[in-house]
Amino acid sequence: MTQQPNWSERFESALHPAIARFNASINFDIELIEYDLTGSIAHAKMLGKCDIIPPAEAEQLVAGLEQIRQEYREGKFNPGIDAEDVHFAVERRLTEIVGDAGKKLHTARSRNDQVGTDTRLYLRDQIQQIRSQLREFQTALLDIADNNVETLIPGYTHLQRAQPVSLAHHLLAYYQMLQRDWERLGDVSRRVNISPLGCGALAGTTFPIDRHYTAELLKFDKVYANSLDGVSDRDFAIEFLCAASLIMVHLSRLSEEVILWASEEFRFVTLKDSCATGSSIMPQKKNPDVPELVRGKTGRVFGHLQAMLVIMKGLPLAYNKDLQEDKECLFDSVNTVKGCLEAMTILLKEGLEFRPQRLASAVASDFSNATDVADYLAAKGVPFREAYNLVGKVVKTSIAADKLLKDLTLLEWQQIHPAFQEDIYEAIAPRQVVAARNSYGGTGFAQIEKALLAARTEIAF
Ligand code: ARG
Repeated sequence: MTQQPNWSERFESALHPAIARFNASINFDIELIEYDLTGSIAHAKMLGKCDIIPPAEAEQLVAGLEQIRQEYREGKFNPGIDAEDVHFAVERRLTEIVGDAGKKLHTARSRNDQVGTDTRLYLRDQIQQIRSQLREFQTALLDIADNNVETLIPGYTHLQRAQPVSLAHHLLAYYQMLQRDWERLGDVSRRVNISPLGCGALAGTTFPIDRHYTAELLKFDKVYANSLDGVSDRDFAIEFLCAASLIMVHLSRLSEEVILWASEEFRFVTLKDSCATGSSIMPQKKNPDVPELVRGKTGRVFGHLQAMLVIMKGLPLAYNKDLQEDKECLFDSVNTVKGCLEAMTILLKEGLEFRPQRLASAVASDFSNATDVADYLAAKGVPFREAYNLVGKVVKTSIAADKLLKDLTLLEWQQIHPAFQEDIYEAIAPRQVVAARNSYGGTGFAQIEKALLAARTEIAF
């Protein structure tokens, strides 16, 4: 049976059913129910404490709200479209449970400050969950890095072989990106954790409420200082979506690398069966669906960020119904980031098998040690640019002769420049090329050991 809307006394006729469906948010804002109940419980307690309603009635409200929580968890609370949104749905059910006292819950409150409160409580919780998922992901990266300090992999610029690096160093780069994401979410959290409760519809309230008390009950750090701002601010959501987008950028870049590495052209990694998929027609295929999906889903999160910016840009103060559109942007982004982090963590933990022989032969069969020849001469006093030009010429003639630098004889080296000695061979061996880059933050093994230790210490807290 369709119930009358809350404002039926003011209106002559009922809402058109299609308009009711269009207007309703219950289909998706039911996601907020636990936070709505928590927020309402704090509000009810405050109403009792401040003698705005009799304390006994406040207790009745709290008990009724807890009962709704129970019903919801048992799958027995399933409000329909006629409820419009989660806030009306809860108030209606509360009045069924506790009678007329239920009608007092909304004293000194509006759905505008209520929904703002719910959304912030939800996001605060989700940020915490995402941060701990980031930690798991970082741990998985460190575990692989620990075992691969001495595994060398071609390093690229412009996707052209540049200089070899340690695989651990490569993975530690992602560790650092994810560390900034973890920190960024902590920063965002500080601006999510501000209470709009008590801002009312837009202008505050005539009742002697205690906003600091509800903020304290709900563990908010502070309260919005301006009621108009409190009900219409969604900066916190946009900031979260920025942070979420950056997490996705990082996951997507790693995904792209895994996809390349697993290709026949690279063959740096084999995908384990538990994390790969087959083709319906080509029997030989093993597809990297997980990183491809992560790369694809990145676009969704960027889209939500863009949507939210556009939703906000033209809104006059204070609340406008446009703001109802924030929820699906947030929920879908949260679920996407969490899903991607979970899948990518599993992929790291058990889905990738690096191919050490293939990697070793890759770094031994290119000119990615050319800089080291130039550095060798520069260390012996040849001006770097001169050394660079000499080596450029050597590379050109070696390619023409189908040789690598390691194939040149000492005589040939000395014809290029008399400073070359027997130790040039050691200097251009891949392992030495990597070990020698021992500047702070470089790929030298000693640096990596320090970086690993620092990372382990960092995430221990
Ligand atoms: N469902 C609404 C939303 O998500 C709740 C607030 C409605 N406020 C109002 N003044 N109509 O934004």
